[in-house]
Amino acid sequence: MTAVREPVVSVILDPSWATGHLIEDVRRGLASHPRTLPPKWLYDDRGSDLFDQITRLPEYYPTEAERALLAAHADEIVRLSGADTVVELGSGTSDKTRTLLDAFSAGGRLRRFVPVDVSEATLRAAAHELAARYPGLLVEAVVGGFTLHLGHLPAGGRKVVAFLGGTIGNLYTEERGAFLGALADSLDVGDWLLLGTDLVKDSDRLIAAYNDSQGVTAEFVTNSLHVVNRELGADFDVDSFSYVPFWDPHMERMDLRVRAEMPQHVTIPGAGVTFDLASGEEIRVEISTKFRPDGLRDELAAAGFVVHHLWRDDDFALTLARLEASGA
Ligand code: SAH
Ligand code: AVI
Repeated sequence: MTAVREPVVSVILDPSWATGHLIEDVRRGLASHPRTLPPKWLYDDRGSDLFDQITRLPEYYPTEAERALLAAHADEIVRLSGADTVVELGSGTSDKTRTLLDAFSAGGRLRRFVPVDVSEATLRAAAHELAARYPGLLVEAVVGGFTLHLGHLPAGGRKVVAFLGGTIGNLYTEERGAFLGALADSLDVGDWLLLGTDLVKDSDRLIAAYNDSQGVTAEFVTNSLHVVNRELGADFDVDSFSYVPFWDPHMERMDLRVRAEMPQHVTIPGAGVTFDLASGEEIRVEISTKFRPDGLRDELAAAGFVVHHLWRDDDFALTLARLEASGA
């Protein structure tokens, strides 16, 4: 019987450093128009738990759509990639990834799994569960950012980098370009990217997915104000904000905001920031961009990735692309 290997967890994102970045993000974001807070601060322990609840909501179709695509094509992904290492960016609970890892372990070549996430508690729990589920597999978890810490990924082996859930859609267009370029720089020619993306569709279906009847998404988005209150001693009166999700047809993205329902004087001592919010003023907490296959191919090609397969249903796409040119 193969022995279970203890996971190795490297913490690149140390807590004080995270606070430093939160301060920068808060200063820059809250001074811009519209005011913004970047989504990576949504995922403290409560936020990660709320996201997990979102994936089980009847209105939130992306998780099950992607799971079905993974189940249908995992064997092909294993065969085509010939990979011995799976890296997962923004891995969270790695719940759907098990479908892929099952196929890889049945294929007999998988040596190493590298989940990467900013949410340390969720990542540690997932790393231990996966190490126990796949005896002999080396689980090398990285507590870090998928935009800032790609240079810290373990080197060597033939890799598939899975970036699932549509999380790439939470990046702005220019951030996506920079991310794909940095990812290409961190990989070897011949490595693969497995990318999950939500597709442009009827706005009613999108709005329902981001404005669920149980109010879980509203709690998730509003949690960013709790994070700033806790980490930086801010005094956002969280209960006086409402949640405002809308579809931006020009940018083809969901725009998720909180709106002050009464005027507020906000003090954020940890960032040395004070400002006035007028009644009705909004803070954008997240965008969730939706894609079209042609646009996706172009964005990937600009970074040197060539699409070998794009599997899709009406809602969601799973794209398998190979890095053909380094540092494109
Ligand atoms: N891949 C999972 C989880 C998606 S939720 C799925 O498909 O269901 C997005 C995940 O990305 C969360 O676990 C969050 O903690 C993580 N995350 C968000 N911003 C990040 C960043 N900048 N770097 C690393 N992880 C990030
Ligand atoms: C993680 N990410 C892909 C989710 C999304 O759909 O953009 C985050 C989310 N925000 C609200 N609901 C889900």
